[in-house]
Amino acid sequence: MTKAIVTGACGFIGSCLARRLLREGIEVVGIDNLSSRGSDLNVVELVDKGARLIRCDLSHPAKASEVFARIGPVDAVFHLAAQVAVTTSYLNRRRDFRDNAVLSFNVLEAVKQYTPDAYCLYSSTNKVYGHLNVHDPVGLNHPLDPYTPYGVSKAVGEMYFTEFGRKEIGLTTCSLRQSCIYGPHQIGIEDQGWVAWFAIANTLGLPITIYGDGLQVRDLLYIDDLLDLYLECWRKRKRGVYPVGGGPGNAIDIKTCLEIIEEMNGRQFASINYSESRPGDQPYFVADLSWRLEAEIEWAPTQSVLAGVKAMMGWIKQNQKAIRAILHI
Ligand SMILES: NC(=O)c1ccc[n+]([C@@H]2O[C@H](COP(=O)([O-])OP(=O)(O)OC[C@H]3O[C@@H](n4cnc5c(N)ncnc54)[C@H](O)[C@@H]3O)[C@@H](O)[C@H]2O)c1
Repeated sequence: MTKAIVTGACGFIGSCLARRLLREGIEVVGIDNLSSRGSDLNVVELVDKGARLIRCDLSHPAKASEVFARIGPVDAVFHLAAQVAVTTSYLNRRRDFRDNAVLSFNVLEAVKQYTPDAYCLYSSTNKVYGHLNVHDPVGLNHPLDPYTPYGVSKAVGEMYFTEFGRKEIGLTTCSLRQSCIYGPHQIGIEDQGWVAWFAIANTLGLPITIYGDGLQVRDLLYIDDLLDLYLECWRKRKRGVYPVGGGPGNAIDIKTCLEIIEEMNGRQFASINYSESRPGDQPYFVADLSWRLEAEIEWAPTQSVLAGVKAMMGWIKQNQKAIRAILHI
């Protein structure tokens, strides 16, 4: 039976990936330290569906090594475990470095030792491009220029993935520099996961703050589309580093997204405040997806922003009680 490890399996993307792999008949071993909000919510469901979950802090080299030794060879490793908020990366730089740079290095060393033939995919971020004062889609050759501790620590992880993928070390590695990913099962907060956070705030009647002018543009990528890409990359054992998002067809600014949420929920936000833009907040990020052709990747985002936000809001409405408990409101 095909077998995959998902690090960060109890987080938003990791739990959705684990569900998807299980549906496809793939054996899933999830590794997570359950440090992020709502991660324990996914544990029972994933175990019920047949995943094996191991609680482990992968930032400890010996623990990471021990857990990979216990699991043994697998067909793929999807590395999603991370400290994910830019704000936290300023407040606790050492933790951010440990849970991104060191953790990713530990995972690669463990893969090299215990499952060197596995396909290894790293969820990188558009934050590795830094401030990005551009108004055109960002393509394959745009330079790496991280800004913010999170951008740097994710870039370090990414560079190690590239290095371990070279012939001297010999793993098969790929990094996807992801734009804004959204969808059901995402418990967004003000610090991370802004589409989900605004949808939750509108549904629960909470005030929101817009940092900057609200005209920042992102190409939203619906979770199921991202997972399709993960699986396509795995199928083709694609190597390299690629910018990934919903592309120009799914680019939207924050204010327009707020209007969509209000319209769909049939209610206005309790209040909208404005504050200074936050460090590293790119005015514009849209991925140029034309690399797919040369890379022979047969994939395109299929979910429109309207359909995706609707699906996400349906999930939020159904799970209001659990979300309130997780966010302590
Ligand atoms: N969601 C997005 O829009 C987005 C965009 C770009 C990149 N990413 C990347 O995708 C990945 C997943 O993001 P997400 O949105 O699902 O975040 P998330 O916070 O929901 O998931 C991360 C998971 O990692 C786990 N984790 C954290 N530290 C750990 C440690 N020391 N040991 C073991 N597990 C640990 C957490 O408990 C959590 O379950 C991250 O690497 C993130 O940087 C996400």
